[in-house]
Amino acid sequence: MVPIQIDGRLAPRKCLRNVTLLAASWVLQLPQAKTAQAAELLFRTYKPYYQPTGRSRFAIKIREALFAMTQEKVLIVEDEENERTGLAELIRAWGYDTETACDGVEGLEAVERWNPAIVVTDLRMPRLDGLQLLEHIAAQPQQVAVILLTAQGSIDSAVSAMKTGAFDFIEKPVNPTRLRTILQNASRLRGTERELEASRRKLRDIGVLGSLIGPSKRMQEVFRLIEMVAPSTASVLITGESGTGKELVARTIHSLSPRKAKPFVAINCAAIPETLIESEIFGHEKGAFTGAFERRIGCFELAENGTLLLDEIGEMPIATQAKLLRVLEDRKLRRLGGKSETAVDVRVLTATNKVPEDAVASGQLRNDLFYRLNVFNIQLPPLREHKEDLPDLVQSLLADMNEKHNRKVAGVSEQVSGLFQSYAWPGNVRELRNTLERAAIVCDGAMIEMKHLAPGFGQVVPRAPVQEANAVRLGVGTTVAEAERLLILKTLEATNNNKTRAAEILGISLKTLHNKLKEYGAQGASDAAEAS
Ligand SMILES: Nc1ncnc2c1ncn2[C@@H]1O[C@H](COP(=O)(O)OP(=O)(O)OP(=O)(O)O)[C@@H](O)[C@H]1O
Ligand SMILES: [Mg+2]
Repeated sequence: MVPIQIDGRLAPRKCLRNVTLLAASWVLQLPQAKTAQAAELLFRTYKPYYQPTGRSRFAIKIREALFAMTQEKVLIVEDEENERTGLAELIRAWGYDTETACDGVEGLEAVERWNPAIVVTDLRMPRLDGLQLLEHIAAQPQQVAVILLTAQGSIDSAVSAMKTGAFDFIEKPVNPTRLRTILQNASRLRGTERELEASRRKLRDIGVLGSLIGPSKRMQEVFRLIEMVAPSTASVLITGESGTGKELVARTIHSLSPRKAKPFVAINCAAIPETLIESEIFGHEKGAFTGAFERRIGCFELAENGTLLLDEIGEMPIATQAKLLRVLEDRKLRRLGGKSETAVDVRVLTATNKVPEDAVASGQLRNDLFYRLNVFNIQLPPLREHKEDLPDLVQSLLADMNEKHNRKVAGVSEQVSGLFQSYAWPGNVRELRNTLERAAIVCDGAMIEMKHLAPGFGQVVPRAPVQEANAVRLGVGTTVAEAERLLILKTLEATNNNKTRAAEILGISLKTLHNKLKEYGAQGASDAAEAS
């Protein structure tokens, strides 16, 4: 489609269809084929309005008609009957699809059932008032633009309405021109949101979710979980080795949630001294402890209405864990040295690179807190388990590096790519990122070659940390007999000493297993514990 301005300065007759087509695609946000259809219809309907000298009037007509064609659903919530029907008639006459409700409770019911794009609501109503209705709507996953009708001069309620997330407010008696403009703005915003959603879906199809890259099956499963959990307020525990992208996942959850416009605050429990952690998380009042010269707001309050990521949750002192649990349960917080409690509305995400069950078993992480935080678990795979993603990750990270360091690196050589595929990446995506950053800085051409990698990179493949309890670790120098002994003992341990099952797994007869065990003698039991 030719990019023509709607007030078109191009040759009139020739561009008439184009103007219509452009306007249709702009307002309707329809796929190309459907837009063309709609444009054709509009073109025929509005042709009589067209005069070479009055192109903008024609454009305005088209625009109005297009807005009407979108048939955005508007719900009017007003307890006063005359006002309600009057408003509904007016808004319907502008081409919107309308429905009415006589108070907040009915309004909320209609929002859930009818899914309107816009809600125009009175403030003062019986049962559930306009602000309460707004709060309920704001907590829902679907995007609804709420326009509040306020009494003249009631600045207070207008301000609190905007803070609660109202799209706009309008004073009574309603000025129709202003109301119409606000409705058009709200519709346009919906159009932009639809457009963003469409491009998000397109990216998603090629394996991109926010800043996360991962077309592989393993990462697609992670993306699916993120998309499923993001719209809710459920706590999510994100686990995975260091550098696998836990923080990035937390940010993505936040950005896909209804809280996306509110703050995302991350705090690393391992990086803060034990004495300061409570004040960092919950804040303190002036004089709460020596050195507390003034009041300080903690992370919880900073993240109000948004999301808080508690990173390395296993490193949080046990006493702080008890306090955290209380805040999560009561949704109220008391600053250190504070006398009163403040209500908080924060979604809490947690991350750890340890196995949380181990931290619970060793008493490092409170059992009850673990269950409270682990409502939903997202486990990130180590990079060595989704190497199919390497080419896309490399391309995306190189694009970042080019921008950051003003480089024009297009890719990596075949040899480097091969080395990347065989390397175990113990530091996961972060290590890949650092490797590429270094290489991009020293690379003077378009391709990263072996010589651009850090000396010795990939030559000694570091042993990947074996986390599974059911594994036998064998160093170079282990004899075959010794390996066999360790494997047999480990298998027995895994089967809770069920010899028949162990023999089955090992592919040997029960008799052979007995013989082997006899050979190892009593010493076997103590060795079994070592073999991990
Ligand atoms: N799937 C991914 N796509 C793109 N970039 C990624 C991905 N995973 C991780 N990264 C990048 O790798 C780096 C490390 O990610 P992040 O800080 O989220 O890891 P982490 O799991 O929180 O690590 P740690 O346990 O050490 O805190 C960041 O620069 C991040 O942008
Ligand atoms: Mg992290």
